Amino acid sequence: MTDTTSPTSVPGKLLIVASDAALGETAAAELRGGAEFGDAEIAIATTGDRLDAALVAAIAEADAVAIVTDAARGCTFDLRTAMVVAATSGLARLVVAVGRLDRLPRADERFEAIRGDVLAFEAGFADVDFHVVPIGGAALGWESVDTLAGALAVPAHGTPAALAPDHADQFSAHVVWTGAAPLLPGRRYDLTIGSRTVAATVTDLRHRLNVFDLSHLAARRLQQEDIGLVNLSTAEAIDFAPVGEDRPMGTFRIAEAGGGATLAYGFIRFALRRATNLAWQGLDVDKAARRTLMGQRACVLWFTGLSGSGKSTVANLVEKQLHARGRFTYILDGDNVRHGLNRDLGFTEADRVENIRRVGEVAKLFVDAGVIVLAAFISPFRADRRMARDLVGDGEFLEIYMETPLDLCIARDPKGLYKKALAGQIKNFTGLDSPYEPPERCEITLATAGASPEELASRVIAQLEASGYLA
Ligand code: ADX
Repeated sequence: MTDTTSPTSVPGKLLIVASDAALGETAAAELRGGAEFGDAEIAIATTGDRLDAALVAAIAEADAVAIVTDAARGCTFDLRTAMVVAATSGLARLVVAVGRLDRLPRADERFEAIRGDVLAFEAGFADVDFHVVPIGGAALGWESVDTLAGALAVPAHGTPAALAPDHADQFSAHVVWTGAAPLLPGRRYDLTIGSRTVAATVTDLRHRLNVFDLSHLAARRLQQEDIGLVNLSTAEAIDFAPVGEDRPMGTFRIAEAGGGATLAYGFIRFALRRATNLAWQGLDVDKAARRTLMGQRACVLWFTGLSGSGKSTVANLVEKQLHARGRFTYILDGDNVRHGLNRDLGFTEADRVENIRRVGEVAKLFVDAGVIVLAAFISPFRADRRMARDLVGDGEFLEIYMETPLDLCIARDPKGLYKKALAGQIKNFTGLDSPYEPPERCEITLATAGASPEELASRVIAQLEASGYLA
């Protein structure tokens, strides 16, 4: 309820979210008809078929949001989703307006039912004040109930003192996923907050929210229109504020790595202090010291390509040649690593992302130890290879693409796996019912058809020599 004795202020940017445009217009007309909202900036959005990035962005940028329901339909899935977005986006109050009451015989009972429904919802959001009002209440003779304008005009108080932004690289946040491709924990994305863009990964998907009862559902991925609570980690510390304190400094956008499409918006709840409490132990024997002792330049030779494309075979021959020249090497191979470190992972997209993330971290440690690492993994997704690349220094990652046509891999079928996959006995098989994204740019491409593995290995060695890796 608005305290009519104290001065009130009208939000600068008001957003009306309605299930259909006509209903949104009715709500806007009621506001514009009153004195307070005569010149206010009012935008109307409809929920449409899908919660899209534009709607989420509009909610995030609005100073006030009114969700307008059709009395006959109540709080539908779309409107509830919009309510959850608004409530997690740091708004202190949320107004739910009920329209088309005049079309119902028992309008007062229906209104009370919807109000009860919304107030049950309010319990899930400690920091948000929900107001439920009728549209056209005056025409119904409902003098005692608050109006849409009354609920939206907030008691005026001085501008809160701006708090200095905090600085961190691990966060707890709600994300609203709008991308067609799902959110996969461990995958590298671009996160933009304010004018800054950094690499980020979701380190833990805590749960997905059921927008009907706000219960927490276990989830391994988020699909389009899902809202989840996540922990995320940014490659560098960023300035931020919890969204409840400073909405622009607490709101971020997630896009495909490398400036791709928008996938989600997120709202920071608080920083996780892990990284701050976990200092990186500075050690006296460092990478440079080990490099001098080993007398070699460490790097990762990352072989990518379809199963049966020759990754392991060529990596093995390259390693033999390096060893013969007195180089310290180590092979990380998909089939072997999956027997130990990654034995808990299968071949879903999410598991492959995690497979490459772990291997990338291991390769980074080996490079730090001064070793030349040969990694042979299908690593079908560009974003994940890029993440592995970004873990090590410039010039320390050489991507080697085994360019072998699928037909040739099927014909070779060294492990008999294509035969099984084609017979339907193995699901999610790369190249068949799971995608492979060839590199757009890589250091070495080996067209394998018609070349012997020895020839291909010699080509890799020659290139390493030419680029100064074996000096
Ligand atoms: S990756 O996609 O996550 O990079 P990785 O290189 O570790 O895959 O493992 C691939 C190996 O696992 C293949 O060479 C093959 O022997 C085996 N494998 C078993 N199931 C599959 C599958 N569904 N798709 C691809 N490879 C599979």
